[in-house]
Amino acid sequence: MNSEVAAAPRSQYVEFWNTVLVPKFVRWRHILVDGLTLHSAEVFPSLAVKKGDKVVDAGCGFGDTAIQLARLVGPTGSVLAMDCCDGFLEYGRKDAKAAGVTNLTFLEADVQTYPFEPVHDFCFSRFGTQFFENPVAGLRNMRKSLRPGGTMTMIVWRGIKDNPWLGHAKEIVLKFLPPPGENAQTCGPGPFSMADTGVVTKQLEIAGYKDIEFEQIDAQVFVGRDLDDAMGFQLAIGPAGEVYREAGKLTEDRHDDIAGALKAELVKNQRPEGIMMDSSSWKVTARNPV
Ligand SMILES: C[S@@+](CC[C@H](N)C(=O)[O-])C[C@H]1O[C@@H](n2cnc3c(N)ncnc32)[C@H](O)[C@@H]1O
Repeated sequence: MNSEVAAAPRSQYVEFWNTVLVPKFVRWRHILVDGLTLHSAEVFPSLAVKKGDKVVDAGCGFGDTAIQLARLVGPTGSVLAMDCCDGFLEYGRKDAKAAGVTNLTFLEADVQTYPFEPVHDFCFSRFGTQFFENPVAGLRNMRKSLRPGGTMTMIVWRGIKDNPWLGHAKEIVLKFLPPPGENAQTCGPGPFSMADTGVVTKQLEIAGYKDIEFEQIDAQVFVGRDLDDAMGFQLAIGPAGEVYREAGKLTEDRHDDIAGALKAELVKNQRPEGIMMDSSSWKVTARNPV
């Protein structure tokens, strides 16, 4: 394994991911990796990946899906795992080494602009493409990583109403705090920006793909070991986390009310394995024309 650092200047969103979200994601890694894996586990068995394939994992985060993909393609294949935050990739490098997975390269780069060679059979992204500053440019660039006839599969969240694991907490904090203002710092278009199949179909067509298909994936995700863990996670990450972060000092006065209301909702989802909530995504598959 090796790493390179792309020299392109960082966009404001990439900067935000690096400075604000990396520390939060690292703090809540046990939920983001183990919790969301329950969701993508539904998708992995049907991915169009075979032994010997060359694969890209775009916006790979901590790298757990990249390691799974590297195992699927085996020693004759390879995976290029990319993310704009080296703070995430460090975990991937360590985990891959510990797992003895060597057909995997972690690379810090912006997927929207990286000069790919068109040699890959498969390009994958779990919840990465929703944050592209320019989705069409990003999707087009992912297509450019593919050989003619290569396949792209991305997993993107459906709407906030279909994702109570993020939506309920936002509704609750908005009872106590104002919505984020016009100038709120954000992670990019956001987790629900690819929920509309009509819009995404258009984006993919403009980006040059064909054979575009959507499959709805419903799964329960783990959002915390107990009520405090789940509450801390929801107030740090996602739409409720954004409201909370932007409210600044106001949160000091309202914290107890918010905590009470959030826990009253979360307790309904308490199971022996932790707090489990419904989530729903699209598995979107498209092909680079031959
Ligand atoms: C919600 S996380 C998903 C991470 C991982 N794929 C997973 O499922 O756990 C979104 C990821 O996309 C990355 N990302 C956002 N914009 C990016 C860009 N333009 N280029 C590369 N990575 C990007 C972020 O750094 C982050 O790791």
